[in-house]
Order: sequence, then structure tokens, then C-alpha cells
Amino acid sequence: MNDNLTDERIEELAKKYGTPLYIYDRDVIRENSRLLKDSVYPGASVYYAMKCNPLVGICRAFREEGLGIETASKGEIVAALKAGYTGDDIIFTSPGKTEEEIGFAVENDLKVINVDSLYEAGIVNSIAAKLNRKARIAIRINPMQCFSNAKIKMTGIPSQFGAEEEELDEAFFDRLKSLSNIETIGFQIYMGTQMLKVEDIIGNTEYAMRLALRLSKEYGIKLKYLNCGGGFGVKYFKNEEPLDMQALKSKMQDLHERMGAELTDTEVIFESGRFLMARAGVMVTRVLYRKDSKGQRFLICDGGSNFHSSAAFLGRFVRNNFPQRAISHCAKSEDIETMVCGPLCTSLDVMGQKVMMDAGVDAGDLIVIECSGAYGFTYSPSLFLSHSSPAEIMIGADKVTVLRRRGDEEDLLKLQEY
Ligand SMILES: Cc1ncc(COP(=O)(O)O)c(C=O)c1O
Repeated sequence: MNDNLTDERIEELAKKYGTPLYIYDRDVIRENSRLLKDSVYPGASVYYAMKCNPLVGICRAFREEGLGIETASKGEIVAALKAGYTGDDIIFTSPGKTEEEIGFAVENDLKVINVDSLYEAGIVNSIAAKLNRKARIAIRINPMQCFSNAKIKMTGIPSQFGAEEEELDEAFFDRLKSLSNIETIGFQIYMGTQMLKVEDIIGNTEYAMRLALRLSKEYGIKLKYLNCGGGFGVKYFKNEEPLDMQALKSKMQDLHERMGAELTDTEVIFESGRFLMARAGVMVTRVLYRKDSKGQRFLICDGGSNFHSSAAFLGRFVRNNFPQRAISHCAKSEDIETMVCGPLCTSLDVMGQKVMMDAGVDAGDLIVIECSGAYGFTYSPSLFLSHSSPAEIMIGADKVTVLRRRGDEEDLLKLQEY
């Protein structure tokens, strides 16, 4: 974790803002943005995939760093606009866009709407016609193969995402060209998330480039835009090696030597959530109770998988624990295997499974779950058991900004009729 989030600082913030608490670090957002921009294909742009953390304050930070933004719903487009983005820096990708969402995207003249089928292209076309506009679209492709080791593969397999590569034929493109209120500017190919091997990212990118070039030549599409996805991973678990950014940069430069001449008129873009945000945030939860059960130590905390399901379920899925530590004032003792649990009435609510933790850790101490800036609160079943939602704050060089205030019981009742 970074130097800004020392134990003392975290304790101070937890006291002031309460727990559970998410803390994001503006400096890490800056460092990650610069590092990724510097390491991808030369001349390419990087877009922040806000699905990983949709707070307006976080989106604004990425705008300040010069990144575009990738959205997946009307709600995300609205948040991106609130963060100061304008349509020309917003792209829209989702397998299930409603007509209302498409209309909103067209009205705001988004840079591009990535569509998943010819059918959807037809819907965008008729909505754009009704609004007397011309919308830019790109075809999201589900490629024939997936040769990456993405931890979660999204395309290149049977998938709900994208148009099937095998179906992209003359008839497909003839029909596209007949739709006069859309302009097809290129393609999007997003293979999967959490890739830690440079060869996989390069392999996917090259595959995307070659496929897009072949299709655009064969079917007469002017390739102005090519979204190569990303899937840039982070090291969560002890047995993982972080993505080698030096090697990525050098292999991207080699790729540019191979492909650059053919892509001079094409804007190449990458999108990233996890790499940009995971290490920029921690979740802090306070131990409420300690118990020993049949020889096993349990710490029960005030926030768990209801506010950070990734730490519980992704960890379970790959049988591993997010990096975590205790901040404790108890007398030092030996480390023992400990189950770090949340307050939910389900045995799935475990964020640390048999983690080695000081046996002295007790009620009142803090547990810090690192690598939690991406797919944390936003990805969690927060209504389960009606606990008030955590505050989310960002620390900067000399100030702390509240990005989302702590929720209360009234918030939970807000939309209910009774
Ligand atoms: C189309 C698309 N773009 C970007 C992302 C963000 O991926 P990551 O957080 O791995 O960078 C996802 C994640 O599911 C996605 O589906």
C-alpha cells in the first residue's frame, strides 16, 4: 500500500468519519493514470471504466488526469457529465441498453456507442432518426477465440457480450451501411479482466488490431476508432506477480512497429478500471466482537461483504484473501489463523479466510482491506440486512474530501412506499 495511508492516518480518519469507511488516495490515482498512459500502445488514449468505482469525485479526478470515460448505463453517463465530462469524451458499452438510455446517449452526442448486434444498431439508428441526429457506433465483437489467461474471461467464449465474429459478413455490413442515421467508426474488443501477463495483453491487442483491420478492409469501413479493451490486472494475492509495466511498455512499442503503419488514421483506445483504481483505495472496518468457536478464531466487524463483496466472493472464487492487516493497540501476541467476518447472517460473509493475524486483535481494533478501490462498494449487495452505507472519502496532498457521506436508516427507506 502507499505511504499516505499509514496506520496513524487511517485511525485518525476512521475516528473522524466512522466505520465502515472507504478511503481513496488522489496521489495513487495520478500515479496509476500516468503509468498506464505511458505504458500502452504509443499514441493511444486511456479511458476510465467507471463501473469499477462510479463516484463523481473519482470520475472528476480521472478527468483532471486527462483520461476519457467509459460508461455502462444512463446513471453512469449522468455521473460522468456531473464530473465535467462532455459527450465527446464519453463512450457507452452495455449488453442491455434501453431505448431511453440510447436516446440519452444520442442526445448527448457521445463519442461512440458500442453496440452488440445488428439489431441494436437498428435501434440506435431509429432513435437517432427520431431525434434528427447521426450517432457514431462501433461494433463490439465476441472473437472466435480467447487465448488469454484473463481471470474472468468475457469474450472469446460463449458470451452475452458482442456480435459473434463468425457472423460479421457481407450481409451484416451491407445492412449496417443502409442505416443512414448511424456512422460505424470501428470496433471494440474487450476480452476479459485481471490479466497479469504482458503476453496475454499484447496477444489480445494484436488480435483485436488484425481483426479490425481485416474487417474494415474487407467490408469498406473507415477504421477511425479501435477500442482494444484492456483487462490490466493488479496483484491481489500472495501467489500473484504484478503486471510488469516496463515490459508492457516495451512490448507495446514493438507492437506499434508491427502495426503502426496500418493504423495511422485510427484512434486506438484502452479502457481500464481495476488497474487504475484497485490500489488507490482501502476499506476500513472495525472489529465489534471476537470469538473462538471450536478452535477457530473469528473477528466480527461492522462492515463486510455487504459493502465489499469482491473481498469475500472474488477471494472465495479463487480461494484467496485480499491483502489485509489489523491496526490494534493490544499487547503483541503470536499470529493465529483468523476468520475476518462482517455482520451479515450468512456464512459467506467472510473477507479474510484463515488469515494470519495477531491473536491480541480484539473489539475496537481496525481491519484494513487493501486493494479495494475497484469493484468495492459499487459491486456489493449493500441492501442485505439494511446496514447504513459507509462513507467514502478521498485524501489529497493537504485535504480530505467526502465523496459520499455515510448513509442512514432514512436513506434505506427513501424509495419505499408504506
Ligand atoms: C467492456 C468493459 N470495459 C472495461 C471493463 C473494466 O475492466 P477492468 O476493471 O478489468 O479494467 C469491463 C469490466 O468488466 C468491461 O466489461
